[in-house]
Amino acid sequence: MIIAIDGPAASGKGTIARRLASFYNLPHLDTGLLYRATAQGLLAADLPLHDEEHAVAMARGLALTDFDENLLRGAHMGEAASIVAAIPSVREALVQVQREFAQRKSGAVLDGRDIGTIICPHADVKIFVTASREVRAMRRVLELQSRGEAPDPETVLADIARRDARDAGRTSAPLRQADDARMLDTSDLDIEAAFSAARAFVEAVRHKV
Ligand code: DC
Repeated sequence: MIIAIDGPAASGKGTIARRLASFYNLPHLDTGLLYRATAQGLLAADLPLHDEEHAVAMARGLALTDFDENLLRGAHMGEAASIVAAIPSVREALVQVQREFAQRKSGAVLDGRDIGTIICPHADVKIFVTASREVRAMRRVLELQSRGEAPDPETVLADIARRDARDAGRTSAPLRQADDARMLDTSDLDIEAAFSAARAFVEAVRHKV
């Protein structure tokens, strides 16, 4: 079973994907880490984020096992990842590794922006997780605080709005709900309720097969 989870920043898709993976005993790939690691590689080498040649080389050289999540999950790396992710050749360089992960015998859970539309158009279950921008900004503030950062809420809201516009407005694989994806709005849901709703979607598909 392949479960594709897409949605904007801080919608709760990552937590839902992790919980589903654990519940169904499936491997999970947070595809945002691929773009974050590509951006981090460029920044560490003092290269600009629009350096296409080096960005593609970085993307091709990534190994799924050696992500330093603590380094990659910082606020400015999300922004940098969104810039790098808008380069079509970088996205192309990352397609294969994501599809191979999805094709594992065990099945898999992948979360990102284009899993249901481009990476796994034939996924068994597709969920598009969303939430209001204000709720997402508040969640991001709490997450950054828990990492020891001291974010300004207004700045976080503006960052999220900018990232939404860039991720949904790019020409290559923009963020959008696949036609056959189920929408899950988590604005008024806590994590348990969101997970239950996502699990109900999966169960509905499993019982249909
Ligand atoms: O999910 P995230 O916040 O870790 O993703 C960081 C950025 O990477 C996001 O703003 C857009 C990009 N991204 C993408 O374009 N496609 C994906 N499948 C995953 C992430």
